[in-house]
Amino acid sequence: MRAKIVAGNWKMNNDLAMTQSLITELKKQSQTSNAEVMIAPSFTNLWPAFEALKNHKIEVVAQNMHQKASGAYTGEVSAEMLKSIGVNTVILGHSERREYFDETNALLAEKVDAALKNGMRVIFCFGEVLDDRKSGWAESVVKTQLKESLFHLDKSAFENIILAYEPVWAIGTGETATPEQAQEIHKHVRNVLTEKYDDELAESVSILYGGSVKPGNAKEIFSKPDVDGGLIGGASLNASDFYAIVNAI
Ligand code: 13P
Repeated sequence: MRAKIVAGNWKMNNDLAMTQSLITELKKQSQTSNAEVMIAPSFTNLWPAFEALKNHKIEVVAQNMHQKASGAYTGEVSAEMLKSIGVNTVILGHSERREYFDETNALLAEKVDAALKNGMRVIFCFGEVLDDRKSGWAESVVKTQLKESLFHLDKSAFENIILAYEPVWAIGTGETATPEQAQEIHKHVRNVLTEKYDDELAESVSILYGGSVKPGNAKEIFSKPDVDGGLIGGASLNASDFYAIVNAI
């Protein structure tokens, strides 16, 4: 059985007070769920979030990290630092990191290695831009992203990889991939994983969908057989919307 996961990517939102009050609300909303629930606050709020959620099932995860362990990289945060405060999972390869911070597939391969070396789990994001989709290249773009950042890994490393398909044209735009479009790419990803590794691996990796998931469309998207949950942006900033999405699993 693949893990069902709903993760809230807060992006560059919420100062300390807002983080604390959103967590208070999330704790009120949370109930038994068959999904793993995660939130990804900004670096400055990871520790307060971690403290506020001690002994609570919501996992605190990071939105990014640097590929090196330490050194003269002003402004950066390493996997070692994240681990030292108890963060065990990191989002890598988000399209905003790719677009605004020039993160390439090759750089992401290094980041993935650094996270895995530190015993962390990776939520690895990938997805095509609108032009790729219009040109019929979505499947090949996605394959290249996976190949260049992940396919140097051994099969066993995938125990710590969660995939997140986030079509760039659907992020923060209010435009969602249809459940069929999501299913099509998720299925394609499993085929690509079978081709490179085997069926067992392809069937075991959780693949989340991200891009304008809201309480009103979550159930339909999550009902698709190859969609194992969601990576939620805007709607994760509101506790009741976020839990409506969690409960849609
Ligand atoms: P939205 O849910 O705001 O479209 O963002 C999706 C996303 O980028 C999650 O990582």
